Amino acid sequence: MKKLTMALVAAGAAGALMLTGCSSSEREGSTTESTDTATEMAGFAADATIGVALPQKTSENWVLAEQLFNDGLTEAGFNPIVQFANSGVTEQQNQIQAMVEQGAKVIVVGAIDGSQLGTQLEAAAEAGIKVIAYDRLVKNTDAVDMYVAFDNYQVGVLQGTALLEGLAERKGEGPYNIELIAGSPDDANATPFFEGAMSILQPKIDDGTLTVVSGQTTFEQVATQGWKAENAQKRMDTVLAGSYTDTELHGILSPNDTLGRAALTAVAQAGKDVPVVTGQDSEVESVKSIMEGVQYSTIYKDTREIVAQTIAEIKLLQAGSEAEINDTESYDNGVKIVPAYLLTPFIVTQANAAEVYADDATLFPLTQE
Ligand code: BGC
Repeated sequence: MKKLTMALVAAGAAGALMLTGCSSSEREGSTTESTDTATEMAGFAADATIGVALPQKTSENWVLAEQLFNDGLTEAGFNPIVQFANSGVTEQQNQIQAMVEQGAKVIVVGAIDGSQLGTQLEAAAEAGIKVIAYDRLVKNTDAVDMYVAFDNYQVGVLQGTALLEGLAERKGEGPYNIELIAGSPDDANATPFFEGAMSILQPKIDDGTLTVVSGQTTFEQVATQGWKAENAQKRMDTVLAGSYTDTELHGILSPNDTLGRAALTAVAQAGKDVPVVTGQDSEVESVKSIMEGVQYSTIYKDTREIVAQTIAEIKLLQAGSEAEINDTESYDNGVKIVPAYLLTPFIVTQANAAEVYADDATLFPLTQE
């Protein structure tokens, strides 16, 4: 009975799709197991252990999330285990396995490598644990109940649009020379970011408005392993030395602030004029740079909002209610379409920073200096 209830909760949680994803034999097979009380049928204990497996500290948003999950889950009455996996995939796999052994009822996963957690998450699902992919999709496994994230493709669309607007604003009439940077190939987000941006930029490359002077335009050519600043900077150093000794560089598509600042460092070291550089995450150093007129844009994905939404989903699961889902189409993880709750990202430039950060006590003051 308990397992049946959990299966139904999961089905409700993940929306109708979950029902088709869950085979009838699984559901029938579990009906004989126990005779639980009505209280237990509500979901799980209000003081349950909740695991949160975060990746490496590759940007400020992850560091903020740690504190917010610890505080928010504790305040909601749960027992949180929030961990980073700074040494990589194996550490994250071990942490998730330990969360299963410690009896977590929900595991929230910000994957380092979205394709390497199948075994651990399947063990979690077997144990009746609900799995929520957080910010990054978990791929190639059925053992993920839902996805809470900002709309990643839209982030890319906003970045591509900002690059074009910045070029027109700061570099006069085109055509323009640009370079492209993408995120880490093991992060499922890196592709939608890049594809969203290219949906805007590719037509402008095709009509000659934009030229990628290095010729490096595929995701594989422009990806940045591990989202590491030094990798992006090294690639930009090489590109600048190889293609820009006598040529002006007008713009750089960067998928986040850390890599955008690395690109700006490479350009400064090469003694070139500041190009229009995009970003993401609204990191403090980048917001300062935007207000000084250096970095052109960033994206605001309010970490407080995504953590609050994730905790709200956990509370719904705890109560045995249906999770909140607003997208059942966009995130195919290779095995199924993962029901998602997508939040809205905002583009930020010097012109609208004060307005976008109005409710952010850390960032708003930076717009007033
Ligand atoms: C996040 C970005 C972040 C990047 C590197 C991505 O998965 O969505 O916000 O910049 O990871 O940490």
